[in-house]
Amino acid sequence: YTYDTYPHLKRNPNFKELSPSDIKFFQSILSSNEIIIDNGNNQDDLLPYNIDWMKKYRGKSRLVAKPKTTEQIAKLVKYCNENKLAIVPQGGNTGLVGGGVPLFDEIIISTNNLNKIRDFDHISGTLVCDAGCILEVLDNYLAERGYMVPLDLGAKGSCHIGGNVATNAGGLRLLRYGSLHGNVLGLEVVLPDGTILENLSTLRKDNTGYDLKQLFIGSEGTLGIITGVSILTPRRPKSVNVAVFCLNSFQNVQEAFNISKGELAEILSAFEFWDINALRMVKHHLFQGTNLPLEDKYPFYVLVETSGSNKEHNEEKLHNFMEILMTKGVVEDGVVAQDNTQIQNLWLMREGIPEAGSKSGSVYKYDLSIPLPVFYNIVEDMGNRLKDAGIFGKDKPVTDVFGYGHVGDGNIHLNIVAKSYSPEITKLIEPYVYEWTAKYKGSVSAEHGLGLMKADCIGYSKSQKMISIMKQIKQTIDPNGIMNPYKFIL
Ligand code: FAD
Ligand code: MLT
Ligand code: ZN
Repeated sequence: YTYDTYPHLKRNPNFKELSPSDIKFFQSILSSNEIIIDNGNNQDDLLPYNIDWMKKYRGKSRLVAKPKTTEQIAKLVKYCNENKLAIVPQGGNTGLVGGGVPLFDEIIISTNNLNKIRDFDHISGTLVCDAGCILEVLDNYLAERGYMVPLDLGAKGSCHIGGNVATNAGGLRLLRYGSLHGNVLGLEVVLPDGTILENLSTLRKDNTGYDLKQLFIGSEGTLGIITGVSILTPRRPKSVNVAVFCLNSFQNVQEAFNISKGELAEILSAFEFWDINALRMVKHHLFQGTNLPLEDKYPFYVLVETSGSNKEHNEEKLHNFMEILMTKGVVEDGVVAQDNTQIQNLWLMREGIPEAGSKSGSVYKYDLSIPLPVFYNIVEDMGNRLKDAGIFGKDKPVTDVFGYGHVGDGNIHLNIVAKSYSPEITKLIEPYVYEWTAKYKGSVSAEHGLGLMKADCIGYSKSQKMISIMKQIKQTIDPNGIMNPYKFIL
């Protein structure tokens, strides 16, 4: 693999290098199966923690700590702070901006072993759990009790709820259930000085002073380590329907979305889109030997999911919606899932895109909030720009450019597949893509975060005053800057 490089970021000499006495301290807190220490010939054990999901970023950490309790984490963090050892908090390591892996020799504190469900109230639907619980494990636990996690994403089999909170992950149903800023009721956080900030509230309403937990939601590990999460979970819908439509223009995608809000209203639970290049890639990598549910000859596809409590009511609404789409000529073709297997098959065309992308090559991912009228233009503009530069096409360094994402949230994922990561390609894409986004007052990070990839890009979407307040907050909570350095705010 070739990894992306960050030559402009230098190791901060104020941070101490790991010494034998540091290792001894870690060993006094952690049992042998809770720690991995570089012994010169166990790189394979450290590698999964040093490399990210996309295989784009690679750090050189020499110690991975996997504590089982908040108290262990508090002791380790306190020691690191006193000794100026830099830390990277890591959950499931599915992040897409290089935030969860070290850049240099930072110590990795992983929540892999912090995975107990602490409490669930079946009347209010409040769930309290350790930060290292895997999203899908939580969802299965809740399914048995008639509830669900108000967040779903393609990485659910690996990502941790703590990682989701730390990135303020959006996912596939944000348009229905809202963001984690609304659903998280409380957090337990180990602060950089080792104190445990206990705020695992299960209250829906609590207007006593500043809502401090909000600072940690989306903080990407720069303010502390989230160790516990209290979250409000909705009832699991009794009836779910999924349909996928083929469309001839992005104008029609917008029209379909508009109609869906009017016709499906309270039962609309997802409105996702992808283009033909994304579909062909998924077909190639994930539908080998089986037929795609739809022909791959239309420029755009949308997936509409409805969910509610009454099957007949939902089906009638979906039927009316489809009739309007057809009569108005907004869609060219479509398919409705008839059972759960078909629902999963339709979702695979959308959820499988990141995996299919990573099987195609080295992927440059841009996660943008852009106003819907110009939403898809960035994909076309970028494709043309790379073609004009002579690097995009058959047997060229860039082999694919495609777009998909959460139309319902105004969030597009622009992906550029290259044979390998290279500074020449990066220079053609960046800062062009960020300037383009800023021109339309969009956001350069809709949901993935800034991480290492966009550590110095916050200014495209936030004012200097806002950035300076953020820096003051960081300085107040983490004066030694040990918590996830080189990321987020430089
Ligand atoms: P990691 O990758 O381990 O860490 C991510 C960041 O959070 C890092 O900065 C890390 O330092 C910090 N962090 C992790 N745990 C803690 C903690 N306990 N305390 C403090 N900081 C912590 N994102 C979306 O928003 N929507 C999607 O639809 C979506 N789909 C995805 C699909 C796939 C296939 C993949 C691979 C990723 C997807 N993502 C999506 C990216 C998303 O950010 C992550 O999947 C997820 O939220 C990160 O959780 P994690 O446990 O893997 O965190
Ligand atoms: C998605 O929507 O599929 C995720 O955000 C992951 C990605 O952008 O690749
Ligand atoms: Zn997404």
